[in-house]
Amino acid sequence: TRTQVGIVGAGPAGLLLSHLLHLRGISSVVLERRSRAYVEQRVRAGVLEQGTVDTLVAAGVGERLRREGLPHHGIELRYDGRGRRIAFEELVPGRAITVYGQQEVVKDLIAARLEAGGDIRFGVEDVALHDLEGEPYLTFDGGRLDCDVIAGCDGFHGVSRPSVPEGVLTLHEREYPFAWLGVLARVAPSSEELIYSRTERGFALHSMRTPEISRFYLQVPPDATPEEWPDERVWAELRARLETVPGFTLATGEILEKSVTPMRGFVAEPMQYGRLFLAGDAAHIVPPTGAKGLNLAVADVRVLAEALDRFFATGSADLLDGYSRACLGRVWRAQHFSWWMTTLLHTFDSDDAYGRRLQVSHLDYVTSSRAAATTLAENYVGLS
Ligand code: FAD
Ligand code: DHB
Repeated sequence: TRTQVGIVGAGPAGLLLSHLLHLRGISSVVLERRSRAYVEQRVRAGVLEQGTVDTLVAAGVGERLRREGLPHHGIELRYDGRGRRIAFEELVPGRAITVYGQQEVVKDLIAARLEAGGDIRFGVEDVALHDLEGEPYLTFDGGRLDCDVIAGCDGFHGVSRPSVPEGVLTLHEREYPFAWLGVLARVAPSSEELIYSRTERGFALHSMRTPEISRFYLQVPPDATPEEWPDERVWAELRARLETVPGFTLATGEILEKSVTPMRGFVAEPMQYGRLFLAGDAAHIVPPTGAKGLNLAVADVRVLAEALDRFFATGSADLLDGYSRACLGRVWRAQHFSWWMTTLLHTFDSDDAYGRRLQVSHLDYVTSSRAAATTLAENYVGLS
């Protein structure tokens, strides 16, 4: 088979790229290792920046998102026995975020691609990338796909980035000494807005998916397993870390899913090698505290689709050659913001009383100075 763009990975990056290329009359084939059911059920991100929503709506895949997505105009920072709101409507007027599950975005994109006759191959094993500096092609399960360009959209653990010869990419990495236990529960959210809570027991986040489904995260040791966290322990710990202000009680319910996510920041530079372009988690990941990963993936793909359009329409590779540079400014801003939010809100084993006082002072500043609160707000809703 021959196509213009061979896409590895049917996460948000690969699926949106395939869709944006289709809108521009460019052909692509998506190769995904997992089944359709698996990628549609995989619980992950939930916070969409305005720019992400705008991109999905403009691409014609935002109908259900506009109907079912929950617009949020602020978040709460809870610490030291008080809760303080970061008010987006005041600090960054006209900009907000939308809470809508990543797997819903994935479902909407798969439906749109299949309806348009798109070629997504699920359950494809042993994908390998070849001849990246010449005439690239992909092999898999005994099959072969020739293409002009390959888009590596296969996430942090994918095959694309490791296919680049040693020494070409510079890898920047920071690991954090903790992980997040993510929990999905059938219970109405106990708060209208997200709560980012810092406690001496560790960080907790109260988020949501729908008026009936809540989403929580707990800071846990880096080697924690879901088995160590039976439901009663999860609820007890969430209560201990969220019921820290007067009058707040956490409603509990049936737990539907639990998983542990390691926390790290990572950037591969440049995001290109020959005819291979990396997008989304394949090129960079952030600790989830800033809610940036999915939004960065969408932003990369927006730039890449534009550059590929120019390339196929005119033969000019100027935008493609500038792809990595065009993305990395935003990528590093998100790295810094995510690191900043993470250090602001988590407990570190190395913390002494001095370190904890610094954290509380920092939180006091962020929640009382308009300038500092604006820094948080404009990064959180997304810098254009
Ligand atoms: P992925 O979603 O990882 O997709 C990659 C795809 O490639 C997968 O389907 C995978 O199966 C496939 N694949 C992998 N290897 C191969 C192979 N060898 N061959 C073929 N296919 C392959 N981001 C936010 O913006 N906001 C949030 O609130 C947020 N919260 C998060 C919470 C959690 C618990 C986690 C884990 C992440 C969170 N993120 C968040 C990050 C966000 O989920 C990721 O950044 C996003 O999934 C990146 O999309 P992607 O398409 O680049 O990669
Ligand atoms: C969610 C995830 C995040 O990483 C975050 O910072 C906020 C919300 C969520 O899954 O809802």
